Amino acid sequence: MLILSIESSCDETSAAVTNEREVLSNIISTQIDEHRIYGGVVPEIASRRHCENIAAVVKEAVDAAGITLSDIDAVAVTAYPGLIGALLTGVNFAKGLALSLNKPLIAVHHLRSHIAANYITHKALKPPFLCLVVSGGNTVLCKVEDYTTFSVIGRTLDDAAGECFDKAARAMGLDYPGGVTLDKIATIADERAYPLPTPKINGDPYDFSFSGLKTAVINLLHNLKQKGEEPDVPVLCATLRKKVCDILISKTLMSLRESGYKTLVLAGGVSANSELRARMEEECKKEGFEFYTPQLKYCGDNAAMVGAQAYYEFLSGNTADVSLNASATMPIDLKVQGD
Ligand code: KG4
Repeated sequence: MLILSIESSCDETSAAVTNEREVLSNIISTQIDEHRIYGGVVPEIASRRHCENIAAVVKEAVDAAGITLSDIDAVAVTAYPGLIGALLTGVNFAKGLALSLNKPLIAVHHLRSHIAANYITHKALKPPFLCLVVSGGNTVLCKVEDYTTFSVIGRTLDDAAGECFDKAARAMGLDYPGGVTLDKIATIADERAYPLPTPKINGDPYDFSFSGLKTAVINLLHNLKQKGEEPDVPVLCATLRKKVCDILISKTLMSLRESGYKTLVLAGGVSANSELRARMEEECKKEGFEFYTPQLKYCGDNAAMVGAQAYYEFLSGNTADVSLNASATMPIDLKVQGD
């Protein structure tokens, strides 16, 4: 089944052609250079660039797959969650395309797509499994009961892990996107030199909180500046990275032990983090859990992962119609298509 998919939830305009788990093309036009000068994504600029780029990106994806539009069996699009103006560009383009081709339209949840990036990389991977989705806007620990049935175990109560990395990195004067740079330059953690707090959560032990950690790094930098001292940035990066990994790994392992699930899947932009991948794999190995993570090229936002999830949404009967609207927020476990 050939699916043409579109992703425009943040600062990447992407289109792909997939056949179940096979990727025939995956074109990504990134806006990173334009947002870099602001140190973060400017939603209005993102929406405008998606509008300008989307037709060319879709055409390139179709051409690169060696097909024509008439070969397409369905059109899929990221409909939620994300930046609303950015999402609307993709959703409206996809609706027009599906209507003109008279093909089914499939609305896909962005985090479900991140999880499906693993289906592209690991052809035999099947639910049920436990999944930690860590991206720039979301941190969610969930059970993936089948391809379209999710149950949330824990979520961040404030910032996502990626947001914490990005904002702390910006305060350290690092290049955007901060999480990527922070991971590249981090050396060895030193918790004595840079003591960072472990967030306390009232209530659910599987929920996360990263805003206090971000604030702690910003305060630490201010204190050093007031004293006329310079931070050792690579060591501070490594200390923050270790702290975030400690939190993500300990809660995920605790939940694996208690839930009885035997397999852990890591997903989302932050799954590209070198320490997180390595340590999570090691811990899973020690305790006899299977561990999967996407190939680096599928960790960030891309349309191929949308196509991979769309196939299973289609099999479950989850198609949308022209009344489909984008939404800035949407829980991963809610079944919403056409409203
Ligand atoms: O999944 P993604 O591409 O976009 C969202 O859906 O949010 O994730 C982007 C996030 C950014 O916060 C970026 O800094 C972070 O993923 N990221 C990393 C790494 N690569 C990307 N964070 C830490 N280490 C990395 N290697």
